[in-house]
Amino acid sequence: MISPIEVKKLTETLFEEVVACRRYLHQHPELSFQEYETARYIESFLMERGIKSEGRLAENGIVYLIKGLRPGSKVVALRADIDALPIQEQNDVSYKSKHDGIMHACGHDVHTSSLLGAALVIDRLKTKFGGIVKLIFQPAEERLPGGASIMIKEGVLQNPAPTSIFGQHVHPPLESGKIGVKPGIYMASADELFVTVRGRGGHAALPQDCIDPIVTASNIILSLQQIVSRRANPTTPTVLSFGKINSQGGATNVIPAEVRLEGTFRTMDEQWRSQAHELMVEMAEQIARSAGASCEFKIKKGYPYLQNDLELTTRFRSHAEEFLGAENVVDLPIRMTAEDFAYYSQEIPACFYRLGTGNLEKGITSPIHTPTFDVDEEALKVGVGLLAWVAFKELQD
Ligand code: NI
Repeated sequence: MISPIEVKKLTETLFEEVVACRRYLHQHPELSFQEYETARYIESFLMERGIKSEGRLAENGIVYLIKGLRPGSKVVALRADIDALPIQEQNDVSYKSKHDGIMHACGHDVHTSSLLGAALVIDRLKTKFGGIVKLIFQPAEERLPGGASIMIKEGVLQNPAPTSIFGQHVHPPLESGKIGVKPGIYMASADELFVTVRGRGGHAALPQDCIDPIVTASNIILSLQQIVSRRANPTTPTVLSFGKINSQGGATNVIPAEVRLEGTFRTMDEQWRSQAHELMVEMAEQIARSAGASCEFKIKKGYPYLQNDLELTTRFRSHAEEFLGAENVVDLPIRMTAEDFAYYSQEIPACFYRLGTGNLEKGITSPIHTPTFDVDEEALKVGVGLLAWVAFKELQD
């Protein structure tokens, strides 16, 4: 039996190494689908410590199998995403990003270094467990179609097939030392909407000679909100937001010929998601037609909703309480953001939890995806230890 103290001690001895690793990754961020150096770094980090990869998937994705020496047939997967964001870092720290305009502003450096640390802990304790731990370093979480969907297509959930998968994500609103969890539906599906309304431009003083795409687009924006307020089941969280309106030309005295809108549609039910897509297109086209305009409505389907398996997440919660103390395991509400870990959750029992990385006293409070985002590195102890602990617990059951 592996004890929490054993895992914590090992994690403690590896702490400096893991911090150095996180800082290296933070200084050398790479955008989605371009994580070449990051992938090489992961491979050489583990190779130097005697852990050999099973090879690449999705170009920069890497898979490892750490086999326990005791009998056991379970396979538990642990996943970390490795890509960064197109943001210019504004933190004044020694480990500031060296890549202009690119930053680990979503904490994937923390996810990656935590999994590297967990790999070392698991490898050192492999005489004490049975079964297999599958480590998945995954590229391109931040960009469609998402590295997870590609790795799944290329077979990451086969040979051997994991019985469950865990992933973690940094969470600045939660103090470091704590983690947060939500069983059941947790994060939303996210689809991108691109709407082009075409009318007939002309002098703004002579609207009778024009077909005004601005008024038509305005009607479309307002009416589409009824999909959320009148058509969605109130028990199914649904969000529709437009974040961009542009006219092609136009001025105070010119009605343009065309207006383009961009937005996002998010929900947590696959059937409703497809139905809502049809309703939005139909409504927009009808409104355009009634004004004599035309409407082209394109939907770029993004990640599905993320479902935390009830049984697995309940077990995870008790493993986490045993490791961290019940006071450090917090219940979280659902979130309307999206995450490509959702793809795994559509395939096998999955659990995606939040790692507290904030620290009010140290002034570490900036949200993810901002130029001043940072983490309290003490959180890496939980990031490493809990991943390893959960794998051990699941393999022992
Ligand atoms: Ni992220």
